[in-house]
Amino acid sequence: MEASEKTLTIADDTTKEGWTVVLPRHGKQRRKPTKQGVLEEKQEPWTPTDSQTDPSKEARLMQKMKRSIDRIESSEFYHTFRDQIQTSIVYYINMLLGSEINMQMVIYGIGSIEMYEIPRLQLSLALLMRKDFGWIGNIEVFDPVLSATESRILEALGCSVMSINEHGRREALKPTLFFMPHCEAELYNNLLQANWKLDLLKNIVLIGNSFETYEQHASLCKNSPILNSSGNIFAARGFTKAFRIQIVSDDYYFAFHDSSWHFFNPGLESELQFINP
Ligand SMILES: C[S@@+](CC[C@H](N)C(=O)[O-])C[C@H]1O[C@@H](n2cnc3c(N)ncnc32)[C@H](O)[C@@H]1O
Repeated sequence: MEASEKTLTIADDTTKEGWTVVLPRHGKQRRKPTKQGVLEEKQEPWTPTDSQTDPSKEARLMQKMKRSIDRIESSEFYHTFRDQIQTSIVYYINMLLGSEINMQMVIYGIGSIEMYEIPRLQLSLALLMRKDFGWIGNIEVFDPVLSATESRILEALGCSVMSINEHGRREALKPTLFFMPHCEAELYNNLLQANWKLDLLKNIVLIGNSFETYEQHASLCKNSPILNSSGNIFAARGFTKAFRIQIVSDDYYFAFHDSSWHFFNPGLESELQFINP
């Protein structure tokens, strides 16, 4: 089943409005509960599960990626996305960059670009951003589902594939754009938890599921399992500046719906005291 079809099936069960709420999956990773009941994973080395790739498979996937990049580049969706960056987002990016020339992009949870079109469209957007905006530097990618062929193509497209499963817990010691399209709430929460300090949160730009929609969902569904793994997401809402990504055309709905840019700017240590990771 395509990743996004899976997502939509879950969404039908969890919301009346068809919004994608990606619920935590259980039993897939080695995790231990902390004192607060938050699940914590250990960073662990990773290699693709298959070691087999061949030139014809790689050539086919590269062709698919090129078609996907061309398609997005000429779309009204991308023109609107680029306009939004130039009119609203760039101000916050410049504040965040300070004296740095560019920031690294970390992509978590892209999904299988070999099997599904939606991850290809999402990756294409990231690659176009790097091409069009000088403030984006190197791109690092991680998803535990990546195959050897996908890893080779990502490298050929100028990205580095991580060899460690960080479980989303990268510390943003420098300005960093985290591109996490339609990930599970737990992965966003891990990222926030690992950076739950004034001087780290301000280094993060996050493109991912809208935190506002998580909050709306939680207020409607008091028993939602999301509540157990989203403490930092909800606690961050008070100091999050968010910009919705406009879909413009139905063609891009499944790849980018309910996604936002998020910037975090807690002014005081006391704003971080609700949660003690
Ligand atoms: C709901 S899917 C989204 C896939 C794709 N972006 C899409 O929109 O169809 C969430 C993705 O997160 C990935 N994922 C799970 N744990 C991860 C981790 N520790 N680091 C990075 N990605 C992870 C899963 O393998 C899966 O591909």
